[in-house]
Amino acid sequence: MNRNQTAASPLPHESAAGHVTGRALYADEQLPPQGLLSLWPVVSPHAHARILRIDARDAAALPGVEAVLTSADIPGENDSGAILHDEPVIAADTVSFHGQSVAWVLAKDDATARAAAARVRVEYEPLPAILGIEAALAANAFHLPPAQIARGDAPAALAEAPVLLEGALRIGGQEHFYLETQASWACADGEGGVQVTSSTQHPSETQAIVARVLGLPASRVVCRSPRMGGGFGGKETQANPYAAVAALAAWRTGRPVRIKLERGLDMRMTGKRHPFLARWRVGCERDGTLRAMDVELFADGGWSCDLSPAVLSRAMVHVDNACFCPNVRVVGRICRTHLPSNTAFRGFGGPQGVLVAEEILEQIARHLGLPAHEVHARNFYREGQTTHYGQPVRDNHMARLWRQALEESDLLARRARIAEFNAGSRHRKRGLAITPIKFGISFNKTEYNQAGALLHAYTDGSLQLHHGGTEMGQGLHTKMLAVAARTLGVHVSRLRIMPTATDKVPNTSATAASTGADLNGPAVKAACETLLARLRPVAAALLEAAPDEIEFADDRALVRTDPARATGFTALLQAAYARRVSLSATGFYATPGLSWDPATSQGHPFHYFAFGAAACEVEVDGDTGVHRLLRVDVLHDVGDSLHPAIDRGQIEGGFVQGLGWLTCEELRFSDQGRLLTDAPSTYKIPTLGEVPVDFRVQLYAPPTPPRTASVFGSKAVGEPPLMLAIAAREAIREAVAAFGRDPRRVELAAPATPEAIFRAIESVRGG
Ligand code: MTE
Ligand code: MOS
Repeated sequence: MNRNQTAASPLPHESAAGHVTGRALYADEQLPPQGLLSLWPVVSPHAHARILRIDARDAAALPGVEAVLTSADIPGENDSGAILHDEPVIAADTVSFHGQSVAWVLAKDDATARAAAARVRVEYEPLPAILGIEAALAANAFHLPPAQIARGDAPAALAEAPVLLEGALRIGGQEHFYLETQASWACADGEGGVQVTSSTQHPSETQAIVARVLGLPASRVVCRSPRMGGGFGGKETQANPYAAVAALAAWRTGRPVRIKLERGLDMRMTGKRHPFLARWRVGCERDGTLRAMDVELFADGGWSCDLSPAVLSRAMVHVDNACFCPNVRVVGRICRTHLPSNTAFRGFGGPQGVLVAEEILEQIARHLGLPAHEVHARNFYREGQTTHYGQPVRDNHMARLWRQALEESDLLARRARIAEFNAGSRHRKRGLAITPIKFGISFNKTEYNQAGALLHAYTDGSLQLHHGGTEMGQGLHTKMLAVAARTLGVHVSRLRIMPTATDKVPNTSATAASTGADLNGPAVKAACETLLARLRPVAAALLEAAPDEIEFADDRALVRTDPARATGFTALLQAAYARRVSLSATGFYATPGLSWDPATSQGHPFHYFAFGAAACEVEVDGDTGVHRLLRVDVLHDVGDSLHPAIDRGQIEGGFVQGLGWLTCEELRFSDQGRLLTDAPSTYKIPTLGEVPVDFRVQLYAPPTPPRTASVFGSKAVGEPPLMLAIAAREAIREAVAAFGRDPRRVELAAPATPEAIFRAIESVRGG
């Protein structure tokens, strides 16, 4: 048995029964209180326009309509910007994208609010719009000054390199397509404050934005996040404006209010993964050893800044992926366009950076006629080497993991069989590729790397656990229950996990950057240890032993040297209560050893790196460009897993979501800036049909425990596996190449949709 399969593995997901029976409550599914009102937005039909007049008289006259809210109704600051204050919650003078809200109708139900919203007449004066990265470059339209990370002298090293290549890569965006759309409930608390229940990944920020918009101190706002039907980064900041509007309406009317965006509205109004344009030059030796990289990254930030600088920064620190390059220059810019404001999405810019790295390595390998997996292996970071931002790559298992992945996927023998297959097949070709991932774990923004927890024990032996993280299906609550049960030495059934709430654990960070368990786990553990430290002397007195002889296991406190001397955990709590010992404890954690200097873009931003590799085999139809994924072998490093079944689910889910991004999901906007692909019928997300026929996922078992991991030796898993899907893209490229005569360059669009694959085949056939 692998060490990964120890502690807590049989624990079912804490909401499993609720999810499958439909009993689990989401933000919008509480029992409707008396007099509940619904909100529906009036949205801009222009990408960029001046608002001349809003006439809501017809709408307000409709029976059942309570109010039509505009920016004039906001008592505090009309802004929901997370980094800059550049994001009106309700448009005031101008609209900056197609779908921006200019008013919200409050009515007795959704149908009435929707009908009334159609009667609000808004006069606009259309203005010229910038719709995409190229247009922004032409117009010199950016958010913030350029960012740069440099090590060595890339231009000089490029000039001297024996091999010089260059290229450009356009990378598509991605809609989050969480199953539960943006949803918020708000109630005035009758004492001048509000309670907001929001489907948010970041309740503390939602609280802060609601307070900002209402002009209230944070203490007057309580934000709860019960559980989300998926977030994927799309509810890291972008839940905030809807919570703020619901709170505004509740605060103005004193009535309970809900917002639940209809799917099409959600898709048109909210931001997505950033599309990128990368321009790159690379210099290397004839054996593929990297000498210099010079990369420009342009991200489409959309109309407001949102989290774009942080997303861009993560892309810039991931353009190395797993490979060392002595001379690196990366320059990044955020394009300001009249499109929805792009935001966090699983990987947070990392995937775009890693995709550029893998594009470059593939182009080098093909140009030199070398197997790509050898070019990778030649360039992997070695002990003592640092990244281009100055962090040493410690605990680096990449080379070993790579060898194991090559062996277990039987890559070389299968390559030979594929070459045979391809030689005998004219219309269908196969390709097999392997790609690595190295992903930095921690928030790039150092101050976010902290978390809190709150534990209450009751005298009947049951406990309530609060922590600062949010549950979005990734299994964080289940992991936190496992951490608490293991630390306390009690059965998990004693513990109840409570909905995340800002009045229980304050000043929390977003549950994001894959750090949910890494940050909240140690905080939970600390709270449990504080409680045990108080219980230990009580147990020692009961058992007539020294406090340091007491151990907690199997729902008991016992004497280590004489385990028959024991007291049950419930009896111990009662004894502690009788002695007037506090049974409530907080826990806190801050990741040690992190630093980042924004002025030089150098430092030690990550606690550790997550590693993995995937080998994918595809078959491509040359007449249609349609591909099928035949087999996938994943080997991924999650350290000493807190929950192998959940981690496997994250790896599989992340991989398939990455497949969607790279092979089938394509966002199209009209030349007026309206999102055309605003429904599942026009926006193709991966479904069961895209899941590989033969999908093998293995958790990597390191030879020695990692020195830098998190709670109980575990490592983060939420985002890194998404980037393993890059292997599928490279396998497609291999298959495309097989339609030509050993081409030295194969351009493949991202996403590699059937049309794009077909064009690539036509191009290698023609060449
Ligand atoms: N898994 C599910 N089922 N649903 C989600 O919304 N979000 C992903 C990932 N896995 C997500 C998910 C993203 S973007 C992140 S950052 C992490 O989960 C956040 O949770 P964690 O930090 O607890 O891993
Ligand atoms: Mo995840 S993109 O960090 O919410």
